[in-house]
Amino acid sequence: MPISRRKFLANATALTASTLIANRAFPAVASSAQKVLIRTDAKVGMVKPEFHGHFAEHLGSCVYGGLWVGKNSRIPNINGYRKQAVEYLRDLGVPVLRWPGGCFADDYHWREGIGPVAQRSKRVNIHWGGYLEDNSFGLHEFIGLCRLLGAEPYLAGNVGSGSPKELRDWIEYCNYPSGSTLSDERAANGSPEPFHVRYWGIGNENWGCGGNMEPAEYARLFRDFSVYVREFGGTEPFRVACGPSGDDTRWSRGLYDGLRGDLPDGVSMHYYTGGADAPTKFTAAHMDEQLAIYAKVEEALIHQRAVLDSYHRGPEVGLILDEWGVWDQIPEEDEKKYGKLWQQSTVRSAVAAGLGLNIFNRHADKLYMCNIAQIVNVLQSMLLTDGPEGEHCVRTTTYHAFSLFKAHRSKTAVKVETTDSSPLGISVSASKSDRELVITCVNPRFDSDMQVECDVRGNSPREGTAQILHDADFNAYNSFEQSDRVIPKQYSVKVEGGKVRIDLPRLSVVTATLPIS
Ligand code: AHR
Repeated sequence: MPISRRKFLANATALTASTLIANRAFPAVASSAQKVLIRTDAKVGMVKPEFHGHFAEHLGSCVYGGLWVGKNSRIPNINGYRKQAVEYLRDLGVPVLRWPGGCFADDYHWREGIGPVAQRSKRVNIHWGGYLEDNSFGLHEFIGLCRLLGAEPYLAGNVGSGSPKELRDWIEYCNYPSGSTLSDERAANGSPEPFHVRYWGIGNENWGCGGNMEPAEYARLFRDFSVYVREFGGTEPFRVACGPSGDDTRWSRGLYDGLRGDLPDGVSMHYYTGGADAPTKFTAAHMDEQLAIYAKVEEALIHQRAVLDSYHRGPEVGLILDEWGVWDQIPEEDEKKYGKLWQQSTVRSAVAAGLGLNIFNRHADKLYMCNIAQIVNVLQSMLLTDGPEGEHCVRTTTYHAFSLFKAHRSKTAVKVETTDSSPLGISVSASKSDRELVITCVNPRFDSDMQVECDVRGNSPREGTAQILHDADFNAYNSFEQSDRVIPKQYSVKVEGGKVRIDLPRLSVVTATLPIS
């Protein structure tokens, strides 16, 4: 139900008063007027659906107990995939899914995850707690999941402890139509149709868990491996090189120098936004610290794109933010109960997701793909389940933030100007099609509501629809007991004399979809 401006202000006042009584250190909620210019006459680039990509690793309960419960589970499942998770993720839309790691990828040997399940090898997961990995979720199970979700598969190859031959054979096994020993083995394992896997990561974090390499060493290996990454059955591979952690230019320059002109199709950079508190126990100051990092993420993307552009002498090379999201101080008891890196998502996390997704829209011309870490139960996930035996599966606040960006997919991002460019200033992005303008505003401040006036240059917007994701408590989250505590609500946005007026409460994400002429 739309909330009137009067009700909104009344609510805000009431919340301020009660918060002040509950916590004297909490400042009063101020209000600020924000002017925004949306230039639909200035196109940035397409909002690729891949900006909303995902990542699943054999870590904690992301795969086992999260996405996969096994065919004999009492938990409702579709051939072993958790039914509720599949349904929620299909609703959200998963354009691309990266697997099997992460750090796990450089210790993964794909042949151990094919063939009869009972005969698959059992291995210690050396990166994530030393549990016994029985490989019951392997390549065929992963491709099956991608097909169920409508996601493009993205396989991360093993450079750290694998060989060029192992990667080459994996590609032939996946993509060669029929007649070779490997493609016939795939058919015998139940998949006569080739998998057509296009995206191939050549290692993961090879500056760290993927081999502790120097950039020149990795560049040498990238060249060795990528010679054998070939087209089979018409599927041209897209080779993704391991890029920097954050804005580490030493790594990127060392890599590009070492590649000697044999540039990859994509470069994978990782940027996590660390947090000083447990997910549901953030202080306002620590939240500010974490949310302010998004300004650095934006700078890093611009900078890394510029570094890459100064090298590419051939076709475009895509910049991929392959792992991103908030990484908080995870309580040991949560990990014990639900699995390694099991992290609750709060209103703060939703705002963080909104800041990230707005950045991607604003830099749509510089980015190729962005995969949040990770899809279920690990770090800033879309869904949380209560362990391998648990039947609960809830959509996190981050899931809902992502859902507020769906309307941008495949539209053209346009230039946006704001008057406050400080790290915790208003964050806005806009995109358009011939008929619609989509605007997303994020208020990262806990102590100030914003009255936003958007001037639209280039088109005339009319009244449309809007949704808001907000809760006065920035530590609020969706629990197994209260799974819909924080969900998007219909909202009212005014269009007067060509201007769009949005009341943006503290810590909120609002998306308006407006018809234009
Ligand atoms: O997403 C968790 C871990 O973070 C991944 O395995 C690794 O790539 C990164 O350091």
